[in-house]
Amino acid sequence: MNAVLSHNLLADLNAPSWVQHPRLLAWVKETAALTQPDRIEWCDGSQEEYDRLCNLMVESGTLRRLNPSKRPNSYLAWSDPSDVARVEDRTFICSEKEDDAGPTNNWTDPAVMRETLNGLFAGCMRGRTLYVIPFSMGPLGSPIAHIGVELSDSPYVVVNMRLMTRMGKKVYDVLGRDGEFVPCVHSVGKPLEAGVADVAWPCNDTKYIVHFPEKREIWSFGSGYGGNALLGKKCLALRIASTMGFDQGWLAEHMLILGVTTPEGKKLHLAAAFPSACGKTNFSMMIPPESLSGWKVTTVGDDIAWIKPGTDGRLHAINPEAGYFGVAPGTNEKTNFNCMASLRENVIFTNVALTDEGDVWWEGMGQEPEHCIDWQGKDWTPGCGRKAAHPNARFTVAAVQNPVIDPEWDNPQGVPIDAFIFGGRRSSTVPLVTEARSWLEGVYMAATMGSETTAAAAGEQGVVRRDPFAMLPFCGYNMSSYFAHWLDMGSKLSATGARLPSVFCVNWFQTDTDGQFIWPGFGENMRVLKWMIERIAGEAKGEDNLFGITPRYEDITWDGLDFDAEKYRSITGIDQAAWRTELALHAELFEKLKQRLPSELSALHARLQTRLNA
Ligand code: GTP
Ligand code: SPV
Ligand code: MN
Repeated sequence: MNAVLSHNLLADLNAPSWVQHPRLLAWVKETAALTQPDRIEWCDGSQEEYDRLCNLMVESGTLRRLNPSKRPNSYLAWSDPSDVARVEDRTFICSEKEDDAGPTNNWTDPAVMRETLNGLFAGCMRGRTLYVIPFSMGPLGSPIAHIGVELSDSPYVVVNMRLMTRMGKKVYDVLGRDGEFVPCVHSVGKPLEAGVADVAWPCNDTKYIVHFPEKREIWSFGSGYGGNALLGKKCLALRIASTMGFDQGWLAEHMLILGVTTPEGKKLHLAAAFPSACGKTNFSMMIPPESLSGWKVTTVGDDIAWIKPGTDGRLHAINPEAGYFGVAPGTNEKTNFNCMASLRENVIFTNVALTDEGDVWWEGMGQEPEHCIDWQGKDWTPGCGRKAAHPNARFTVAAVQNPVIDPEWDNPQGVPIDAFIFGGRRSSTVPLVTEARSWLEGVYMAATMGSETTAAAAGEQGVVRRDPFAMLPFCGYNMSSYFAHWLDMGSKLSATGARLPSVFCVNWFQTDTDGQFIWPGFGENMRVLKWMIERIAGEAKGEDNLFGITPRYEDITWDGLDFDAEKYRSITGIDQAAWRTELALHAELFEKLKQRLPSELSALHARLQTRLNA
């Protein structure tokens, strides 16, 4: 340790006077001693700092400035082709006991993992700058917010964190001399040896995304992309926060939060869990079709919800983030007008294509350019056989740029939740919409949800897997304990006499024999949302199906949409054979999770089985 500490630059931590937190200073010193950066920079979150780092990255080739007349103050990054998505098989929950991580998480003994990390991080920042990035998940100073400090050798992470979180100097006012924070250490894992030129996107083939849930600590090595590197998002706000929520009686969920206002001016709030790249951003800023123009949707959040019981016996949700890291491909003026409007300026794009005019393009954005440069820097022309944008290409943008941001979006009290929606990407089997008849039935629906894998994570795509609550990659503890926690929250809320939120299950993604989506989706999802709101009000009807209540054709408002009853039946019916297979897959999941599985869930499975066979 002493030998390392004598390293010249460590003599001077370079800490500004506004950092007065001995434990934080000691941790930065210790991390710098381990990782040996050339210098330490304390981020203040200012515009000057953002512009300076963007300029630095334009010079180093990490960023390209887009044409300011097309896309003011915006940049494009192309990552290394090996570093384009979350790496679930390299993500670890290192709880003291293996059972606390549970059968769905990768686990390694924390002592063993610490040794591995010490080896990997030793000298890993040589030749680089260590940035100290203070951030708040949730409104600054709010009692429900949590503070994190990320130490990273990536300036790309700094500028993205400034858009995605409340980042900067003000965080230290909240921290004071001894406030709590979640330490997050991140390195791209590519030390810069003297005299060797840097690459545009440094990263390492060896990757580790590691969480120590009891210590509330995060270590990430080898990737600079998205959830692997912006540690406030999936690592803190979901994996660590879900563990905190389990201990403290609240929920951290992979959910959008939206406000919906009826033509009569009544406002409700819903939270919806869809797996990665399955439509949360779109649903949270949807524009209802013209024939339902009296309805209005506003965005509280597009990816993560922290949900706590209030003194009124209701659940209140906040969005801990301050920006959107959303999927670009498929987004256009028709599918998501509000999203496109959010992206007019001040955006960082990653892995989309560059047009000859110096603007961006991606598959499904609209008119194809005759030529562009693809995300790997190669010439691209229509029909060349390659995608111009990577399927997991994304944009980073501050939430305040969303024209339909909800006025309550950063209210520290959150918004009261009237219903939960769970939905997967299923080309068959799962109906368009079903309402659970009880909290238990809702928890069952969410727990057994299946979805086809997407480009948001590395690995095989389009295969159906169980993704309980859309939390498979994000639950920081034992999945069965998590189910029990949801059941327990329901019991506690019921005990107050309050009405529990309704629970719905949706599937926008059934396809026909040509592989085309049958349901028009996007803004037309308002028709389903309208039925839900009317159900909550006790107005709309529906009929029982195998596992809940589904609207009949006449229960949905069809004005302005040509969608016949036969088509409707094809996406709302229960195919007996498909459901026999489906229930067998539920059983398989429950078998895997049996050690701590709440018995109510297996009992409900048995009842469904009987019902199906009847
Ligand atoms: P993460 O940010 O990865 O957690 O995902 P997300 O759930 O926010 O995904 P997003 O809204 O960005 O959607 C990703 C893809 O789903 C895009 O390609 C959209 O075009 C597509 N999508 C969104 N809504 C619908 C819909 O209603 N129907 C269909 N068919 N596709 C949709
Ligand atoms: C997801 O994969 O669910 C995302 C994107 O929201 S990332 O931040 O990369 O995890
Ligand atoms: Mn997500």
